[in-house]
Amino acid sequence: MPTVKFTKEKKEIEVPAGTDLRTAAMKAGVCVYDGFNGVGAKLNSLLNCRGWGLCGTCRVNVTQGMENTNPLTLREKMKFKTPLPTPVPDPLPCLAYIGNEDTMRLACMTRIEGDVEVETGPPIDLFGENFFS
Ligand code: FES
Repeated sequence: MPTVKFTKEKKEIEVPAGTDLRTAAMKAGVCVYDGFNGVGAKLNSLLNCRGWGLCGTCRVNVTQGMENTNPLTLREKMKFKTPLPTPVPDPLPCLAYIGNEDTMRLACMTRIEGDVEVETGPPIDLFGENFFS
């Protein structure tokens, strides 16, 4: 069975292959709803789409083992890569995605097929070099 390691929480859990990351986190007692750099986490944990890939509050970084997950789903592409209208640089992904382009996933849309390491609640870099460039 694949192992999921939650690095921030220092928890590890074995789950059957095909389990989604959100379910694995709930089994391990890990909250994936971190809010906006921690602000609003409680609200997000109550008001979320319950795993339908619609709200975007369950974003996580898969720091190791991305190859052991399913490819980015259409809903993830819509969340992370939807361009904003000009004069904002086009395409500008959602703020949380900046700097995490290769690792960010929605926990509820990520199927686990092998061992992975996950960072919950990755910080949003509001002043990253790409923000106003
Ligand atoms: S729970 Fe809403 S997008 Fe994952």
